[in-house]
Amino acid sequence: MRRKVIAGNWKMNMLPGEAIEFINELTPLVKDTENEVILCVPYTDLFYALLTAQNTNIKIGAQNMHFEESGAYTGEVSGKMLKSINVEYVIIGHSERRQYFAETDETVNKKVKAAFKYELKPIVCVGETLEEREAGKTVDIITKQTELALEGLTNEQVENTIIAYEPIWAIGTGKTATSEDANNSIKEIRNKIEKIYGQETASRVIIQYGGSVKSGNSKELFGMSDIDGGLVGGASLKAEEFSKIVNFDK
Ligand code: 13P
Repeated sequence: MRRKVIAGNWKMNMLPGEAIEFINELTPLVKDTENEVILCVPYTDLFYALLTAQNTNIKIGAQNMHFEESGAYTGEVSGKMLKSINVEYVIIGHSERRQYFAETDETVNKKVKAAFKYELKPIVCVGETLEEREAGKTVDIITKQTELALEGLTNEQVENTIIAYEPIWAIGTGKTATSEDANNSIKEIRNKIEKIYGQETASRVIIQYGGSVKSGNSKELFGMSDIDGGLVGGASLKAEEFSKIVNFDK
């Protein structure tokens, strides 16, 4: 049985004081869950979030990293730097980074490899635009993105990668993929992984859904056969709402 993993992606929100307050409020609300709870916070919150989440079941992640270890890359943060303060997870290839910051399948793959080099667990985002969906290209796009992101990884590394299927048209729009639709897309991603890495590895990979997840739809979405939890944007900014999503099975 795969575990359910619920990750919040705060995006460019929350000051350190707010992060501390949020984690203190969330801690008792999620302490009894068997699901994995992750908060991916801005760089400026990481240190405070890590300290506040110590001795809790809340894990902390970053939202991006550079693939080089160090050097003349003004404004960038490396995997080695994240690891040095005990960050555990890192989102790679979010559609907002692909769209606004020139992230490509190639840089995504480099970052995933660098994440493993520094013992960070990558959460790799894939997803189609509305235009691609309407042109019937969804499966092509998401399976290709998955294949390229994972290229050159060992089976063990693939098993330790979390994939987040986030249809771009569902992000921040209030539109959610139907649970059947999301489940089918995720099955296609899993089939692709099976073709390349075999059944056992494919059956172990955590694949989340993301895009307007909230407490009102999480139970149905995460109850589907292949949806192993979610990557949550807007609804992860309020501790009580986020805790309800984490506790979708209670
Ligand atoms: P929303 O939950 O706000 O739609 O954002 C989804 C997302 O992009 C998470 O990474």
